[in-house]
Amino acid sequence: MLDAKVAELLNTQVNKEFYSAYLYLDFSNYYMDQGLEGFGNWYKVQAQEERDHAMLFMQYLQNNGCKVTLEAIDKPNSELKGFADPLRAGYEHEQYVTSLIHTIYEAAGEAKDFRTMQFLDWFVKEQGEEETNAEALIKKFDLFGSDPRALYMLDSELGARTYSAPSLVL
Ligand code: FEO
Repeated sequence: MLDAKVAELLNTQVNKEFYSAYLYLDFSNYYMDQGLEGFGNWYKVQAQEERDHAMLFMQYLQNNGCKVTLEAIDKPNSELKGFADPLRAGYEHEQYVTSLIHTIYEAAGEAKDFRTMQFLDWFVKEQGEEETNAEALIKKFDLFGSDPRALYMLDSELGARTYSAPSLVL
């Protein structure tokens, strides 16, 4: 069995990851509605990855004999007023998720729960990549977003993103 506090934080993270999926689906729907289907696709794939993260946390808890409690998922309260809004909100959200992962890591360290620390290593790396990707998207949009032809090309580029299953297998 895991340390009670660590187990609780991991259980909360299941909800946070499902919320991330929900938030990114909201962004995806926004872009689809605006006719930017490539951006919509990018966030749809991102939502699939977040769902996978939630499933991994759930599986890890179950592999360690812990009961999983599913809580209600909050409604995304993003007020999206422009094409850049989801990009900036997404970057902020990833920074927040990184802080959550680090908090669990810290608790696992305090509990000398080396197994959970090792499990979380994948997420620490993943968060680094997700923050980099989110920041890169903002930079590209800031550079090209105001030119319709460049925006069209950027949208096409983002439309090529495809889903692949996570490299972490439990
Ligand atoms: Fe699952 Fe984007 O953090």
